[in-house]
Amino acid sequence: MLEDGFGREVTGVRVSLTDRCNFDCVYCHNEGLGDTRGPLDPQDDELSTDRVVAFLEVCAEYGVEAVKFTGGEPMLRDDLEELVRRTPDAMEVSMTTNGTFLPGRAAGLVDAGLERVNVSQDALDAEDFAALTNSGAYERVLEGVEAALDAGLAPVKLNMVVFEPTAGYVPRMVDHVAENRGLQLQLIEYMPELAGHPEWAIDIQRVHDWLADRADHVETREMHDRKRYFVRSETGEATPGTAMAAADGGVRTDPGASDVGMVEIVDPVGNAEFCANCHRVRLTHDGYLKGCLNRNDDLVDIGETKAQMRAAFEKTVDERVPYYGEYMVEDEDGDWTFNEAYQDSEGDRTPYEYSTDD
Ligand code: 5AD
Repeated sequence: MLEDGFGREVTGVRVSLTDRCNFDCVYCHNEGLGDTRGPLDPQDDELSTDRVVAFLEVCAEYGVEAVKFTGGEPMLRDDLEELVRRTPDAMEVSMTTNGTFLPGRAAGLVDAGLERVNVSQDALDAEDFAALTNSGAYERVLEGVEAALDAGLAPVKLNMVVFEPTAGYVPRMVDHVAENRGLQLQLIEYMPELAGHPEWAIDIQRVHDWLADRADHVETREMHDRKRYFVRSETGEATPGTAMAAADGGVRTDPGASDVGMVEIVDPVGNAEFCANCHRVRLTHDGYLKGCLNRNDDLVDIGETKAQMRAAFEKTVDERVPYYGEYMVEDEDGDWTFNEAYQDSEGDRTPYEYSTDD
């Protein structure tokens, strides 16, 4: 396993398979590249199947344990099943999706080796959902979650971005996962670094405090110091969704099926501890390695051959630094400012630009 200069081993890769998406979420940072494009035809600059597989094989050589496929919307790729199937066995495979294409494809993906799925679901109401995602596909997303559960992907993690427009729905979403077996909730602090609109951010500590109060019990994961809040339905028994009833009609005892829901908060903004525990690098849809979600001045072309990919991987790991706490430093007022030590890279910082085919 490779370790960067800050003692952070790289154990995971997040691979963006496309920057196309059938949604247009108001908050989206598109894996740190800015806006996504619409659900167009595949673009020439998108990584080919073979190139993704070769890259994953190189990652496996370096002991990378897990890959998460993302986008844009990764399910817009027709070769997703093949990619999952061809991912080295030693690596755990998961995906973050908007869920709309899961009906009809979830079982095939599980068959190919998909182990876990995160579905972005920021609201529990079609109208609110439409306002956030600019899509009318709310029902389809619910069907997608159901399809994932049917295919055996429990626990399905729902990703909810917490910011001004959604903060009011947090209690309902928490009830939702408390009441529905097989679901977990990941409350993700809105990251304005690349998406803009810092005024949308809310104080995530308030969510921690509210949840600590609402939760039955709280666990702290040692590695990340990330808390897990276990919540019970306040209206009584958890309802096993039809999809979640165990085949034998009995009560399932795995964590995803217990009668308590699990909620986690992901709070990276201005959080040096979060960055100190970051163990993943990212691959853009067009073949660049990225050592940090928030930076676009550190892109490394993975090239075509495995030798080039190895060199790119090593360079990326070698150059990666924690964003909060190193690349950005906190001043006496608690404000984060650019660390002058990185002036060189700041000097030629060029925002990532799409190469357009059209
Ligand atoms: N802040 C926080 N999370 C974001 N996501 C996308 N943009 C942002 C942002 N600005 C997360 C969403 C989505 C996943 C792909 O990335 O939770 O599910």
